[in-house]
Amino acid sequence: MSSSAGRRGSLSRRAFLGTAAVGAVAVGGAAAGGIAVATSGGGGAAPAAPGRGFRGEHQLGVLEQPAPHGLLAAFTCVDPDRETLARTFRELSDELEGLLSGRPAAALDPALPPADNGVLDEVTDPGLMATLSVGASLFDDRYGLAARKPRELVTMPFLANDRLDPRRSHGDLLLVLQGKEPDVCLHALRRVMRRTRANLVLHWLQDAFTRPDAKPRVGQTQSRNLLGFKDGTANPDAGDAELMRRLVWTAGGGEPAWTAGGTYQAVRVVRMLVERWDRAGLTEQEALIGRHKGSGAPLSGTAESEAPRYDDDPDGERTPLDAHIRLANPRDASTRGTELLRRGFSYSRGIDGAGLLDQGLAFISYQSRLAHFLAATDRLRGEPLEEYLLPEGGGFFFVLPGVTRDGDHLGRSLLTGMP
Ligand code: HEM
Repeated sequence: MSSSAGRRGSLSRRAFLGTAAVGAVAVGGAAAGGIAVATSGGGGAAPAAPGRGFRGEHQLGVLEQPAPHGLLAAFTCVDPDRETLARTFRELSDELEGLLSGRPAAALDPALPPADNGVLDEVTDPGLMATLSVGASLFDDRYGLAARKPRELVTMPFLANDRLDPRRSHGDLLLVLQGKEPDVCLHALRRVMRRTRANLVLHWLQDAFTRPDAKPRVGQTQSRNLLGFKDGTANPDAGDAELMRRLVWTAGGGEPAWTAGGTYQAVRVVRMLVERWDRAGLTEQEALIGRHKGSGAPLSGTAESEAPRYDDDPDGERTPLDAHIRLANPRDASTRGTELLRRGFSYSRGIDGAGLLDQGLAFISYQSRLAHFLAATDRLRGEPLEEYLLPEGGGFFFVLPGVTRDGDHLGRSLLTGMP
C-alpha cells in the first residue's frame, strides 16, 4: 500500500469515528462497520421490509425449515481479552439484530464507506435467518471462560472414516446464515465482517443450498440430498414445542445456567463420492440407505410418511441390518428420546485436483445432548454407505440462547454467567 493510501485510510477512519458518534454504535477497533440506528428515514436508504425478527427465546434457523441458500462461516476470535470479546459479542449481536429486524442502515457522509455494502436492493431480506454458536476453543485459557463451557462441548474428534481438513474444521464461532437467495447471505456476512473485522477472522466458509419441498410440512422432508434421496423424512416434528424442549433445547441437566435455551450443534461437512454413487445400482443404493429413492418410503412400506418396521424383519431381509437409517435409528427402546433434529444443506465446490466433483452434504444436527449425536455416530461407524462418503470438515458448537429483551444481546448470558 502506498503511504498516501495509508494516510487516506487513517484519515477517513478518523473522520468516520467522529461522525459515528451520531447514533452509530462505534466501539474500539470494531467501529469500521458504523451501522447507525437511524431515527428517521435513513436519509435515502429505502425503508427495509420488516424482517422475521431477531428476538425470541431461541435463535432463528434451528427449528425452521432450511432456506434455499445458506452460508456457514466459522471465525477465530482475536480479541486480546475478555472485555473486548464482550464488546465483539455486543457488536455482532447488534449487527444481526439490525439485519434481521429490518433496521435501515444509516446514511453516512459520502466521504466515508457506506454503512451498507449495497449488494441488495433492499437492505434487509425478510427471509434472512442467522444462528450464532460457539466452539470448544472459545473456552480455552484466553478469556477465562473454561468454567462456563457447556458440559459436553469438545473439539470434534476423529469420528468415523474422517479426513478432517483443519482449514475447514472447528472455530471459536460459527455463524449460519440462511436466505432465499445466495446474495442475501453474502450481504449479511459482509456486514457482519465489516463490523467485527478487528476482532473476528474468518477461518472457513462453506456455502450451501437446499431445494425445499414444493409442499413443505413442518419437521418433514426438506429436500433431496445429492445422493438423490429425500433428506429429513424421519426428523422429529419441529412444530411440537414440548418435543423440541426435550430433544433440542438445553435446560438443566447439570449444564451451566447460562445455556438455557441453547442447543448443541454438530456440523459434518461430508463429501460424497458422487461419480462412484452414480455407478451403483438402484437396488444397492436403496439397500444402503434403507428407503426407496423415488418416494422416500422405508423399504418396509410404500409411503414416505410410514414409519420403518424392523420388528418383523430381524434378519434384515427387507431392510438390511446395516442400512443407514436402520443403524442411525433402530427404533427400539435404546434410541427413544434421543432423536436428532437434522438441518443439513447440500454443497458443491467445483472439482478437485483429479477432476472429480467436489460435492456433498453439510450435515447439521441439533440436540439437547451431544451424547445423542455421538451415539448415532457410533451406531453408524463402519456402515457400508461410508464407501461413498468422506467427512472433511465441520465441528461441534453450542448455539447461544436467544435474545428476549432490550439491552440483552447474543453471548450476554455466556459472558455474565447469568441466564
Ligand atoms: C453424507 C452423509 C449422510 C447422508 C447422505 C445421509 C442420508 C440420509 C438419508 C437419505 C436418510 C433418510 C431420510 C431421512 O429420514 O432423512 C437419513 C436418515 C438419517 N440419518 Fe443420515 N445421512 C448422512 C449422515 C448422517 C450422520 C452423520 C448422522 C448422524 C450421526 C445421520 C443420522 C441420520 C438419522 C438419525 C436418520 C433418521 C433415521 C430414522 O429415524 O429413520 N446421518 N440419512
